[in-house]
Amino acid sequence: MVHTTALAAVAASLLLAFPVEASLYTKNSAVLQVDGKSYDRLIAKSNYTSIVEFYAPWCGHCKNLKPAYEKAASNLAGLAKVAAVNCDEETNKPFCGSMGVQGFPTLKIVKPGKTKGKPMVEDYQGQRTAKAIVDAVIDKMPNHVKRIKDEGLDSWLSEANSSAKAILFSDKGTVSALLKALAIDYLGSINFAQIRKTEEKAVGTFSVSKFPTLVLLPGGDKEGIVYEGEMKKAPMKDFLKQIAEPHPDVAPAGAKPSRSSTDKTKASKASSSFFKASASHSTADASSAAAS
Ligand SMILES: *[C@@H]1O[C@H](CO)[C@@H](O)[C@H](O)[C@H]1NC(C)=O
Ligand SMILES: *[C@@H]1O[C@H](CO)[C@@H](O)[C@H](O)[C@H]1NC(C)=O
Repeated sequence: MVHTTALAAVAASLLLAFPVEASLYTKNSAVLQVDGKSYDRLIAKSNYTSIVEFYAPWCGHCKNLKPAYEKAASNLAGLAKVAAVNCDEETNKPFCGSMGVQGFPTLKIVKPGKTKGKPMVEDYQGQRTAKAIVDAVIDKMPNHVKRIKDEGLDSWLSEANSSAKAILFSDKGTVSALLKALAIDYLGSINFAQIRKTEEKAVGTFSVSKFPTLVLLPGGDKEGIVYEGEMKKAPMKDFLKQIAEPHPDVAPAGAKPSRSSTDKTKASKASSSFFKASASHSTADASSAAAS
């Protein structure tokens, strides 16, 4: 009996020591795990900007990046998507190849383009710290928020005057990332603006005395509603729900994939060079591990 238990324990520890194919991020991680299939729906078709890490679980630099990347993911929660693709996974290899991945980790920022499903993709070459990643991604968030000054207020208010509007009064001159995110959630149903504290006429019109203040104008000649809660994404999103339904986080599943069969041919060609890159990295990683 003792024997069996001991053996079982050894077997269990072996399993822990050699997690074959284990991905770097757990299910509970703030980092969203995507693969060649879900990328299209979760990332390419999103109205949000994403950063995607292409990695291999054995890669040392990927392991080193993990804490900063997870921190960036928590800090960007609700503002942008932070995702990872395990390129060591056999089924992901053609996809990683088609994305031009040649080494690990490769970080790409994916920003919605003019045509849905055709995002702009660029390599992230910045520092691999949480702050640098967060700043770069926020910088690439789509902005559907108008900055309004005193002289532009009346015309903005009368523009589509029956539709709902939300105004953030702020002491800052740049558009808040939080407001940009809310504008993405309510794209097409609520128009967003940010007005600076220094715009005295506008501030006076809405009797705003503290900054930031969010005012919701339901549309038509209905009274404005002042938001009294915390300046956080979830409660603000709930507050705006009294006017309109936000878009779901991702497009419903079952939509037809946009990658055509020609793309697949390209992908499998690219993947053969990707295999080489993957193999040489594997060797490099092993030798650096041996050296240390
Ligand atoms: C709203 O717009 C319509 C036409 O665009 C205009 O006739 C009406 O006076 C406007 N209402 C307000 C309150 O500005
Ligand atoms: C993206 O925004 C459009 C409105 O421009 C909306 O119809 C669509 O549902 C949104 N998609 C997602 C996935 O949020």
